[in-house]
Amino acid sequence: MTIDTYIADLPKVELHLHIEGSFEPALMFAIAERNGISLPYESVYALQSAYNFSDLQSFLDLYYQGMNVLQTEQDYYDLTWAYLSKMAAQSVQHVEIFWDPQGHTERGVAFEIPLRGIKAALNTAQAELGISHQLIMSFLRHMSEEEGFATLEQALPHRDAFIGVGLDSSERGNPPEKFRRLFDRCRAEGFKLMAHAGEEGPADYVRDAIDVLKVDRIDHGNRCMEDPDLARRVADLGLCLTVCPQSNMRLKNCLDITQHPIKPMLDLGIAACINSDDPAYFGGYMSENYQLVQDGLGLSRAELGQLARNGINGSFASAERKAELLANLDAYEAGAA
Ligand code: ADE
Ligand code: ZN
Repeated sequence: MTIDTYIADLPKVELHLHIEGSFEPALMFAIAERNGISLPYESVYALQSAYNFSDLQSFLDLYYQGMNVLQTEQDYYDLTWAYLSKMAAQSVQHVEIFWDPQGHTERGVAFEIPLRGIKAALNTAQAELGISHQLIMSFLRHMSEEEGFATLEQALPHRDAFIGVGLDSSERGNPPEKFRRLFDRCRAEGFKLMAHAGEEGPADYVRDAIDVLKVDRIDHGNRCMEDPDLARRVADLGLCLTVCPQSNMRLKNCLDITQHPIKPMLDLGIAACINSDDPAYFGGYMSENYQLVQDGLGLSRAELGQLARNGINGSFASAERKAELLANLDAYEAGAA
């Protein structure tokens, strides 16, 4: 079996996926037309050609523009279903998906609309494709903490629909400390907590995500590797880092895949896993992200398996589902030629 086939068939879980970041240009054009919206691009190709990013903000500008065409529950269903059917074809068995409610309510789409459409597609995928899921509501960190509180109030009547909250968008200048009170409240409400940290922002943001926000999981976390004591602590805590290699390359947070921190993370015993972040914008879903690090870093089958195992252990799947996912992975590793 070639390593490409090994990766394609490896049972995988995805823990770091912004559903709005899975919006493929062809579907964006189709939904824009259905909603009578004209995009500022002549063609799918012209739109794709604009995906040439210099940093996180240059990506976010297009990401928010792209999601503007989403209006109806059906739009969100179609978006989510497109992602999930691709994941079924890539041997992905469990997904944990972020959505950015403020990216929709800000432009007049009711809070419930994305939630209903996304959740309906997730439930269909569970029944028809065997993909289990958790949903996570992410706060936009370029907005104020007060606006985050207002979003939480809108969300609480639907609290059973999602397992936790995250923190995303422009990292630099929006430190974890800005959201201390909001995260205290979310913890008291019983939500799982996570935050993007150390993607573009400094190692200090990873430390503060741990000490100030008291997160259960860190999204990205790459720059903790610049502070050896902190990296050691992340390893000792067993804290899961949801790393996104293709995203790191496309946003210029990593300039050379042979220097990507995922390998030193594994060597240090950090519970890092592989994820796609915004695959429609970065040109790679789960298998492509595994392939990228395998090609660049020459990871062994055992290391690829460890990445998959870290994802399962770091997930918020039930204990029963985790045991099932681990058993599937063990069986695959034992049986692969
Ligand atoms: N929102 C969507 N993708 C993101 C990323 N990679 N970093 C921060 N916010 C995001
Ligand atoms: Zn992200």
